[in-house]
Amino acid sequence: MDLSIIGSGYVGLVSGACFAEVGHTVVCVDNDLKKVESLQAGHIPIYEPGLEELVQRNVASGRMRFTNSIADGVDHSEVVFIAVPTPPQADGSVDLSYIERVAREISGVLKPGQYRVVVDKSTVPVKTGDKVSETIKRYGSRGAEFDVVSNPEFLREGCAVADLMHPDRIVIGSKSDRALAIMKKLYEPFMAPILVTDINSAELIKHAANSFLALKISYINAVSAICDASGADIEKVADGIGMDRRIGRNFLNAGLGYGGSCFPKDLAAFIAISEDLGVPFTLLKEVQRINSSQRERFLKGLRDTLWILRDKKIAVWGLTFKPDTDDIRCSVAIDFIQDLLKEGAHVTAYDPKGMENVAKFGLIPGAKMAASPLEAAQGAEALIIATEWHEFGMVDLAHLKEAMHSPLVFDGRNLLDPATMRRMGFHYRSIGRPEGQKS
Ligand code: UGA
Repeated sequence: MDLSIIGSGYVGLVSGACFAEVGHTVVCVDNDLKKVESLQAGHIPIYEPGLEELVQRNVASGRMRFTNSIADGVDHSEVVFIAVPTPPQADGSVDLSYIERVAREISGVLKPGQYRVVVDKSTVPVKTGDKVSETIKRYGSRGAEFDVVSNPEFLREGCAVADLMHPDRIVIGSKSDRALAIMKKLYEPFMAPILVTDINSAELIKHAANSFLALKISYINAVSAICDASGADIEKVADGIGMDRRIGRNFLNAGLGYGGSCFPKDLAAFIAISEDLGVPFTLLKEVQRINSSQRERFLKGLRDTLWILRDKKIAVWGLTFKPDTDDIRCSVAIDFIQDLLKEGAHVTAYDPKGMENVAKFGLIPGAKMAASPLEAAQGAEALIIATEWHEFGMVDLAHLKEAMHSPLVFDGRNLLDPATMRRMGFHYRSIGRPEGQKS
């Protein structure tokens, strides 16, 4: 089938590559001409495992191409996806101006008698589909035939290609049988369960799913504080409750809290949506509070040990909001480094993929970057693990101890084994785990 995707960000680019991989012909549209030219030249602007090869393969086979013309995209495709950003505004509500603009632009190029399915893939508040439909009708030429569909995306950064190729479910919100039949055909090659709903429910599923996952994380983080206070082990507790199939072990990893471009934004949006609808979802405010208190609790632990942070040399491993990505948006690691710098500490950090973006966005100009985990730890009075990159677990502990001024390790992601750390002579603190107990 022929489709176009408007917006070549995370969701648009990965979806485009995966649709092409299963045999569809995809036109990726972006209004940033520089980005389009760089994609045409084979340069992928984000680090996502497997994405570069996928794009290169499908561009070479002619199933994927890039343009900055919406008219070109819409003209060549029966299905037009909208995958543009929906950033937060100062009050937490969603800025829908990109969606509105794209809807108007689509309306301007729809031709009478040329049926199109307009699919919203961006994360949007419930009832946005109605607005998109009204906008296309208002600005479009008479006789333009289209249906609006909601098809939220559930991919995770770091494993986006695998998530897209093997989704748990595909949600399609539509009130048109014609659009639904086309959407089902489009998704047939993925052989995944399809849930058909009305448009409002599909839109709501996305915010409700992300908020529930964030709630799971805050729940386990709140329990981790009780573990710290009582001497219980959060990993055993998470295993014990996670083995109940009604609960499940996923997303019960305690740590410095959730970050990234989705959970913080989507929680704030869901709170704003619920307030707007007159049914405030106050539980979610507690989820947010627990998330930030986790970082404060960790910082307090560091202060309790080092006493004064001013002029202390502190190493930080990890800058990205999670491993296997170069994304530093709303990263707890960056927030933590900002806390340290504010207190006058000297920070040296290392991250396998995040350092380029740190230099580009200048978020922590006071921090030095190192070329390796061991170089970052050289002479440090304490080491913080802020992101659980696999390579941090592989570092030779004897060399680490030798490199550091004093062997204090604060593990904000429960990456290392407390018993091993203790045996190696480290003073080791993690989240909700007794020091030195075997995990
Ligand atoms: C999240 C959702 O998982 C996706 O389903 C959704 O499509 C995406 O948001 C989105 O809305 O676009 P993502 O933000 O890429 O995906 O990453 P996650 O793997 O969900 O991690 C989010 C944050 O939670 C990270 O900071 C991670 O470190 C943290 N986390 C995750 C924990 O602290 N503990 C856990 O047990 C799991």
